[in-house]
Amino acid sequence: MLVRRDKTKLFPGSRIAIAILVGILLGCICTILFPNGFFSSRSSSVHERLSKSTSKVGSVSCESPERITMLKTDFALISEKNAELRKQVRELTEKVRLAEQGSENARKQVLVLGSEIKAGPFGTVKSLRTNPTVVPDESVNPRLAKLLEKVAINKEVIVVLANSNVKQMLELQIASVKRVGVQNYLVVALDDSIENFCKSNEVAYYKRDPDKAVDTVGENGDNHAVSGLKFRVLREFLQLGYGVLLSDVDILFFQNPFSHLYRDSDVESMSDGHDNETAYGFNDVFDEPSMGWARYAHTMRIWVFNSGFFYLRPTLPSIDLLDRVADTLSKSEAWDQAVFNEQLFFPSHPGYTGLHASKRVMDMYEFMNSKTLFKTVRKNQELKKLKPVIIHLNYHPDKLERMQAVVEFYVNGKQDALDSFPDGSE
Ligand SMILES: *[C@@H]1O[C@H](CO)[C@@H](O)[C@H](O)[C@H]1NC(C)=O
Repeated sequence: MLVRRDKTKLFPGSRIAIAILVGILLGCICTILFPNGFFSSRSSSVHERLSKSTSKVGSVSCESPERITMLKTDFALISEKNAELRKQVRELTEKVRLAEQGSENARKQVLVLGSEIKAGPFGTVKSLRTNPTVVPDESVNPRLAKLLEKVAINKEVIVVLANSNVKQMLELQIASVKRVGVQNYLVVALDDSIENFCKSNEVAYYKRDPDKAVDTVGENGDNHAVSGLKFRVLREFLQLGYGVLLSDVDILFFQNPFSHLYRDSDVESMSDGHDNETAYGFNDVFDEPSMGWARYAHTMRIWVFNSGFFYLRPTLPSIDLLDRVADTLSKSEAWDQAVFNEQLFFPSHPGYTGLHASKRVMDMYEFMNSKTLFKTVRKNQELKKLKPVIIHLNYHPDKLERMQAVVEFYVNGKQDALDSFPDGSE
């Protein structure tokens, strides 16, 4: 009995799913009982009016203008109601999907963390990739905790670090975020200029305590210095129990990214790869003819995870990752993206204990880098029609111009907006 009670506690998502399913079932029953809907008096009157007017077509040459206006109003009302219902269905579907995702992840955690340690039959064994989340600790930063209560949705938030060097790109990003209607978006303002900018644009922002030494990096730092800082800043968000979607400023949003996450891994990241192999991994055979019979050596390759756009679940491996990267960067001049990937992928070996974080690569066309866009997508009639979730102008130094062109292409429908740019930089 005890075991069973514990399990139901671990399945909060499934109760929500059941509640929503019951709602949908009731909806279906209502549809069967009242096929014309609860507002049938209104719609039947339209039917009558419509049939009356059509029956008159033969005898009367034209309708009175009032009647036509009335019919038009009725039609507009019904279309509006229809659109509203469709929107509700979409929202419900999304909620059901999220709840199912949550309960499925919880089920896997129970399977692995519970007492069921005997392996099941062939084909039924699934190892753990969805690690349990940490217990939120508000004491690490009560001010941030309060802010996140307001800004986060479902304990998730987009976090962007910015100083005034990148203000124009931030402006384009914020416009894209507002267009999509994403609410849980937070700017970590690294100087007063960005703070004021956020205030006047009504964007949620967070300013770190001035006594924290690392902040001088943020105020004066170039892109790479800020990149190192983000690993320290994110730690507190995770400790407070929030899932964080870190975004650089040279990124535009075209759909809500939270509807496109899997949430089954510690780290879910966009890729620097640009096709199936480079983005998702491949077996790269190295040829050394002098070895004769053993001339072919197989190597595992994947293009790096992009450390400018990744989602972290608030788990111990995620926090471990941030600490390892911040620690390495504090001791060397290394590139943060290289360190991020080395920590994620190098296995334990003599003298070194590797990080054991679970990883997922985001869909390369949904979370698209600018190499994929300019090298492939813009030249392919099918791929050109896809609507990405985000585009990251990571591969190009003329970021601002290309960001503007990407907005022209994906938002304003200007089909040739991307044509004038070369594939790479010149
Ligand atoms: C890439 O992988 C997807 C999914 O497996 C497949 O549908 C697609 O055809 C592949 N593309 C190429 C160019 O091989």
